[in-house]
Amino acid sequence: MSDLNNGREQWGSRLGFILAAMGSAVGLGNIWRFAYVTGESGGAAFLLIYILCILAIGIPILMAEFTIGRRAQSDVVGSFQEITPGKPWVVAGFLGVASAFIILSFYGVIAGWSLHYFVQYLSGGPAIGAEGGFADYFVAFHTGNFEPLLWQFIFMGITVGIVYVGVKKGIEKSNKILMPLLAILVIVLAGYSLTLGGAQEALDFLFTPDWSQLANPEVYLAALGQAFFSLSLGMGALITYGSYLSKKDKLPGAAVSVAGLDTLFAILAGLMIFPAVFAFGIEPDSGPGLVFITLPGIFDSLGGGMIFGLLFFFLLSAAAVSSGVSLLEVAVAYFMRRFSWSRQKAALIIGFIIFLIGIPSSLGMGALSGVTFFGRDILDSMDFIASNVFLPLGGLLIALFVGWGWKKADALEASDFGDTAVGNGWVIILRFIAPVAIFIIFLSSIGVF
Ligand code: PHE
Ligand code: NA
Repeated sequence: MSDLNNGREQWGSRLGFILAAMGSAVGLGNIWRFAYVTGESGGAAFLLIYILCILAIGIPILMAEFTIGRRAQSDVVGSFQEITPGKPWVVAGFLGVASAFIILSFYGVIAGWSLHYFVQYLSGGPAIGAEGGFADYFVAFHTGNFEPLLWQFIFMGITVGIVYVGVKKGIEKSNKILMPLLAILVIVLAGYSLTLGGAQEALDFLFTPDWSQLANPEVYLAALGQAFFSLSLGMGALITYGSYLSKKDKLPGAAVSVAGLDTLFAILAGLMIFPAVFAFGIEPDSGPGLVFITLPGIFDSLGGGMIFGLLFFFLLSAAAVSSGVSLLEVAVAYFMRRFSWSRQKAALIIGFIIFLIGIPSSLGMGALSGVTFFGRDILDSMDFIASNVFLPLGGLLIALFVGWGWKKADALEASDFGDTAVGNGWVIILRFIAPVAIFIIFLSSIGVF
């Protein structure tokens, strides 16, 4: 296209870009992570703060990432260097690359579990229900050492394969069909799950807040972290995707659609999972295994549910692939520019390194289960550092960068807002509201108040 993009690849269309950003956002975060974090954080009060975080912090920062990427036409590190050369803002870029490595390393483990369940359903499924039920099956599988690693490796292989092929053919194409299918399936399953007898309890749990929870600082940090994780925010995935967009496409609508769809997916997933949690008498705070125990129960109680199990875990795995791709792309885009590697070389090498980094997270369920940090196993610790520390910190820097590091008129122009009321409101949020909110949540979670 133009000389501005240094011969970099670009999306085929604006729709392709929006779908890819949606593919990045919608993933294990909406179903696996949303369900267990909501369950552990007490339900409705958490959900309320989560939605406030999306509206007041998430969407404005999402807009900021798209704006930075499209303006700079570079990877997450290069973007800061391009817009403010020689300034320390580039720290946010390096933080983003580090987050990509950490998140994808454990994301691949959970995605591997999902792939395994898909293949179980492909080959008849019943093994999942055998002897002692779904909980026992899950425990036996994920505490085993070899099998989870194998599936993690396969997941990383698929993700590398798509990034290897490239932005337009690889990333854009894979999202167009799978996302709508997943949406339909989640709606159907939520409808069915609500008939299982746990509906009233689930609705109370999700929508009637226990106000005393609002006094618990951990709930705020959990909600903030979940908002960043679920929106793929704070580590440059959306800067990188924005950088493959040509200058003539409009941004604000895209930002709102991505955040809206992601949130809708999470709430629907809650409506699918929690009625079953209560109907089957499972504890909502059972942790990361929650969906792997409840969902097979739903499928089992559905006559002919095998086909649903098969479809569901296929689509969940596919959603995980499109998110994994965006994580890998952050690092690949950086290494391609910085070290002049080919896309192929970067995808293979970095993908393999990330697989290696993920091994301890996987073994932390089995051979390394004795290793814990502040009561968290290895995977949980990686997730905590990335999602509750690195992502909000990255988001804080991104907000400050656009709010203060950039001339206001430039930021307004680059964002397509122009000098409008909404645009000025956006800048005020980035300058004051989002940074202060993130800062206060950080301080309170380490016990300052
Ligand atoms: N948003 C993805 C999900 O919900 C995870 C992700 C986080 C992807 C950060 C990219 C960057 O599953
Ligand atoms: Na998400």
